[in-house]
Formats: sequence, C-alpha cells, structure tokens
Amino acid sequence: MSNYHIKHLEEYYQVYRKSVRNPEAFWEEIAEEHFLWRKKWDNVLSWDFKKPEVKWFEGAKLNITENCLDRHLATRGDKVAILFEPNDPKEEAQHITYRDLYHRVNQFANVLKSKGIKKGDRVCIYLPMIPELAISLLACARIGAIHSVVFAGFSATALATRINDSDCKMVITSDGSYRGKKTIDLKCIVDEALEDCNGVESVLVAKRIHSECNMKEGRDEWLQPLLDAASDQLTATVMDAEDPLFILYTSGSTGMPKGMVHTTAGYMVYSAYTFKNVFQYRENDVYWCTADIGWITGHSYIVYGPLANGATSVMFEGVPSYPDYGRFWEIVEKHKVSQFYTAPTAIRALAKEGVEHVEKHDLSSLKVLGTVGEPINEEAWHWYDDNIGKRRAPIVDTWWQTETGGIMITPIPYSTPTKPTYATLPFMGIQPALMDEQGKEIKGNQVDGRLCIKFPWPSIARTIWGNHQRYKETYFSAYENMYFTGDGALRDEVGYYRITGRVDDVIIVSGHNLGTAPIEDAINEHPAVAESAIVGFPHDVKGNALYGYVTLKETGESRNHDNLRKEINQIITEQIGPIAKLNKIQFTNGLPKTRSGKIMRRILRKIASKDTSNLGDTSTLLNPECVQEIMDNAL
Ligand code: WT7
Repeated sequence: MSNYHIKHLEEYYQVYRKSVRNPEAFWEEIAEEHFLWRKKWDNVLSWDFKKPEVKWFEGAKLNITENCLDRHLATRGDKVAILFEPNDPKEEAQHITYRDLYHRVNQFANVLKSKGIKKGDRVCIYLPMIPELAISLLACARIGAIHSVVFAGFSATALATRINDSDCKMVITSDGSYRGKKTIDLKCIVDEALEDCNGVESVLVAKRIHSECNMKEGRDEWLQPLLDAASDQLTATVMDAEDPLFILYTSGSTGMPKGMVHTTAGYMVYSAYTFKNVFQYRENDVYWCTADIGWITGHSYIVYGPLANGATSVMFEGVPSYPDYGRFWEIVEKHKVSQFYTAPTAIRALAKEGVEHVEKHDLSSLKVLGTVGEPINEEAWHWYDDNIGKRRAPIVDTWWQTETGGIMITPIPYSTPTKPTYATLPFMGIQPALMDEQGKEIKGNQVDGRLCIKFPWPSIARTIWGNHQRYKETYFSAYENMYFTGDGALRDEVGYYRITGRVDDVIIVSGHNLGTAPIEDAINEHPAVAESAIVGFPHDVKGNALYGYVTLKETGESRNHDNLRKEINQIITEQIGPIAKLNKIQFTNGLPKTRSGKIMRRILRKIASKDTSNLGDTSTLLNPECVQEIMDNAL
C-alpha cells in the first residue's frame, strides 16, 4: 500500500524525502494504485523548463469522470456526492448521490453532444453555485470538451473577452442567480457579452430564479427539457493524459487575463492526492469548501479532488451574511461538516460580527479547518482557531495558485505542528526555492526571497491558451530552470514557509486576484481621465483594497469629484466586475514617473499605505514635485 494517507510528521518527512528523491517513482506509485486507467502510461515524466514543456503520464488513456463517478457506483452509489445548500435556508438542501450525479452528468453530456460539442471544443460556463455548475464541468470532461468557467460575478465585457480568447462554441448559463437578498439576471449579461462573440453557436440556460429572459431564436435553449429528453447512459470519451481538461483565466500584471490550461491525468492525480492528505478525508466525512467553482479552488477542491476520492462535497449557493452572519456555522451544524475550507477575507468579515453568531451553533463535527487565497493575519488565524476550531481542529494554511492546480505548501493536519501565518512545509513532490533579485538561490533558514519551484509537479498548468510565449515569459524567464510564482516568501528557522504576498503588479483583494493594468485601462476609458495608476493598501477585511490615482485631462476640472468617482467605479464594474471597484480615488495633477516614463508604483504604494517616512530614492524621477502634492492630498 502506498502512502496515500500521511499521518505523522516523521511519516511526512519520510514520504517527502522519498517524493523529492525520485518524483517519477513516487507519482507513478500513487497513480498506479488509486486511479482507473484505460491504459497505463509509457513514460511518467518528461520536462524542460527552458522550452518550457512538461508532460506527465504520457501515453496513458483515461477519463477523469470515470474516476470521479463510474468507479464509485459499486461501492458508493448511494453515498451523497454533492450536498447542495441553497441561498435561502428555507429551501431544502439537495442530496445528490454518486448514482444520481452519474446519471445527470451523462444526460448533460448527451445534450452537449446533441448540440454538436466534440472533443477539444471549448465550452464557456457562466453559472451561479447551483448543481448544474458542477454537473456541467463533469459533462464537458465526459466527452472531452474543454471547459472554461467564468466566475458569475464578472461583467459582460470580461465574459466576452474570455469567450473570445479561447474561442468558445457554447455558453452554459442560467436565467439568474441568488446572492443573499439580491437576484442577478445572468442571462442578460450573457446576451450583452454575446453581441461581441461571433463564435458562439448555442446557449443553454438553466432555470434558477424564474425570471423572464429573452431567448434568441436558433441560439438559446432552456436546459431542463433537453436534459429530460436525454439518455442517462454514455460511455466516456477516452482521453490522452495530456489532453486539456480545462482553461481557467487568471489576472496577470499586464494585458489580457491568462487562460491557464490544465491537462487531464496529472491534474487528476494531484488534485485527488492533495485533497485526501491536506484534509485527511475519511469515508463518512462531510467536506465543505466555501469557494466558488468559478475559481481554481472550486475546480480542484469542490469538484475534482473530492469526487475522485468518493467524498461528500458541500456546495453552497449563498453568502456568509445571509440571512445573518451565522449562516456558515448554521450549515456546519446542519450537515455535520468535518472539514471546512474558506478564505481569510471571510474569516475577517465574520470575526468582525462577533462570536454570538458562532456560539449559537454546535461545531463539534469539525476536524480540520482550511484557509486559502491570501496571507492570513495572526489575529484572524487565532480567531479561527479559538472560536471555530476551539483549538481542537488544526488549521491548514494552504498556499497555491490557479497555475499550480493544487495545494503546494501546507501543513498536514495532525502531523505538522501549525504556526500562525505560516503555510509551513511543501507538499509531497514540491521543491520550493527562495531566490534573490540577482537570480541566485538563497539557501539555509531564516531567509526571505522570491518563491520559485525547482521541479515539475503533476498539476502544473501546461501553457497559456493561445500564447505559449507569454507562459514562458511570465513563469520561466525570471529565474533559470525554475517556475516563478510571483510571490515573496520567508523561511523560518525550522524551514517553515510564510508567504508574504505578491511581488508583481497583481493585487489580491478579498482573495480575488486582480491585475492593475486592466483596471487602469478601464479607468482610462472615462473621457475626463488622462492617466491612472492603481495600487493596493492594507484593509482590515479585504486584506488589500484598491487605491486609484487619477489625473484628469483638463487641470482645474470643474466637475464634481464625487460624481467622477462614481463614474469611474461604474466603468470598472462594467468592464471587469464589482470585485475590482476602487475603495479610494485621489485626483492628482501628475503621477511620479521615471525618466523612461514608467510610473513609480513603489512610491504610490507607500503613500496609499500611509507609510511615507521613507519614500526611498526619488531623485531619478522625471517630476519629483508631484510627490509632495500627492502626499498632501492623500486620502
Ligand atoms: C495567489 C494565487 C489557489 C487558490 C486561490 C487563489 C495568494 C494563495 C495563499 C496562502 C498567502 C496565498 C498568492 C498566490 N495565495 N493562497 N495560503 N497564503 N497567499 O488562486 O487566484 O491564482 O491566486 O494567491 O499570492 O500567488 P489565485
């Protein structure tokens, strides 16, 4: 029996050493024993970070849905696979068993086929957190179509950009969504997006809020009648190990969002194996990750990882504040949740509301607590530990990225002693390195640097859709023969890692990854705006919030600044989505620039963070006079 379930720190080190001494043998053993293959691989790994190119389990044939569904039918057919908890607590939860899910995925996949979707076609999924979302991912995977899920909080413009970038043939959406007291007309957003998307042939619409929507003849169809008419049997399409499974967009420091491409076998093996170990999942546990499936956390740790392990995975439609701030804890009690995985921003928001909401509920079912998405501050860590885990349930602070496909640095609960704000130790097979700015590796402990990974792991993204050059430049050019994460980190005296945050122009707001460039581009579309620069500043709930410096075309602009602020945020909402709105907007006569015309964000960051005691060297600025003006008028 291989080390599929790690239990003690000595065992961790033992397995870890083995995993990095011979990663191929390590992952081969995991892959052999725990998955269903139509055909085994000819070669475990070939890689070259210079090209870059990575291939795992080449020559193997499989379908990930046979691993997530078919193989559980004999032993877990009646076990709940997806436990759907609706937005409204008065609406009944849905217990979707592995057998039900299998049938529903087959029906959905048959509908996709009947609409002409074939292996390799891209399908955009723009759905709220309803069962159809999980089912549509699996239905695509069943027939080898590449899903591209776009978070349903993105605007029509952002959706259109993503649909066009990967040339999607179909969009799956719903009439609308519930979020707390609000309803959102998603189908209208899709209609607007599709005005700019010529490649989309069909739109399938799930009914959720029963709103009137406009159905375009020949393009749009209601989903349910099609599902009702479809067969619930379908043999899965046989896929190659390296066939793309999905595309998921993430923000970059510059330009267009990056369509990260994940492939089939390596992603399956890594998401499943990390799920089992990081959450120490046991057969009768109920596991709940509060993320949206629109993000990588939901792909790997609501859908694929849990289902590949035959787990029960809770899917929650609503928000933590509805009907009140006790909702998460009410759900934990109601479904006797064993593992709970959320983001620091949610923890901070709930901590603010006081412990009354927590104390009403029995949280004794909890065995493991997880956090992900951004650094967790010490106060939030302790609040989580004291009030939710009651110091009994270990906290796993899991560091990873859309690009990594699965958890990379994390404690193993009940094995790794935890330390607040530390993601602690690398997962099996992960070889981190800290680098200095000259490109040299910093060895030893009690050091900090830029976080890189030296060796491929099975679920590393293989490329950026349609732009391999950008993939190379972004991740493999900063340091020779290394994957560069974009994060800074420190390593303490025992070798534990603490992630200190992004070192590029990506800002993490409430756990959402936002690039500054697209936001600036949106602002600059306002007719009165000449130029803008966005930086992050510390915020007690969001982690970071956005601060915008804006120069106007006409100095002495007579227009009301509050109105301008509203209009700017309106443009951002239209172009990207409400998550990218600015908390503060300062109008200024100039932005500090280098002689080559590059905006000095370092200075702007310090001013926004009210940390102006040492602005560093400003002598190289083209226009040093504007710094004082910006400081005098800082918000
Ligand atoms: C960035 C990746 C992977 C799931 C969600 C985010 C930050 C993620 C942690 C953590 C400190 C973290 C990093 C990373 N991040 N987890 N535990 N501690 N920072 O995925 O949107 O691709 O964002 O999130 O800065 O690079 P993503």
